[in-house]
Amino acid sequence: MPGHSLFAGKSHVVFDAYGTLLDVHSAVQRHAMQVGPEAGALSGLWRVKQLEYTWVLSLIGRYQSFWSLTEQALDYALARHPNVDPALRQPLLDAYRDLDAYPEVPTILTRLRAAGQRTAIFSNGNQSMLDRAVASAGLTDRLDAVLSVDDVEIFKTAPKAYQLVLDRLGVTAAEVVFCSSNRWDVAGASAFGFTTVWVNRQGVPEEYPELRPAAVIKDLEGLL
Ligand code: LAC
Repeated sequence: MPGHSLFAGKSHVVFDAYGTLLDVHSAVQRHAMQVGPEAGALSGLWRVKQLEYTWVLSLIGRYQSFWSLTEQALDYALARHPNVDPALRQPLLDAYRDLDAYPEVPTILTRLRAAGQRTAIFSNGNQSMLDRAVASAGLTDRLDAVLSVDDVEIFKTAPKAYQLVLDRLGVTAAEVVFCSSNRWDVAGASAFGFTTVWVNRQGVPEEYPELRPAAVIKDLEGLL
């Protein structure tokens, strides 16, 4: 790296956090035995509802912290899965505070910095939630900045949210490579003007044909 043309003229590689660096399903996986056979469905619904709340609130023009939405989404998912013991609510939330990073993440962040790039997170997660997750995943020293939409109180994919990256890092959009495993986030970041990379970890189908990424990779190894 960056022999990759993707990085020509770029100074910052900015990552989405949840689903991209941090495995959002590792919380339920840690308690999979106790959750039982509906573990996968519970985890999927928890994530879908968490995201839906961000989009709906942003369209209404309201804001609540991503942690609060994460709690509300889990409550909904548990209500939809009455066979899952509701006493697991707290252990699941505790696990969500300290999600696992995907295995290649620490090495790739280190290698990007060794190659002269600055590394940052830009996430819907609120600042305290992010700082804790980054620390527990052992990523603090591998990131130059951890940026939260908290500062502008509107969620991605609002352009005002992505603008925070420029304002806080003091760069132009042309200097940024933005990486996300969330295709909707790639669409928002592409519309804003970032060069985008879709980390398609699950091998899911392409969407948003008008707002394509510059590259598609299956994990962060594909950056180097
Ligand atoms: C993030 C979530 C939404 O912004 O993936 O980190």
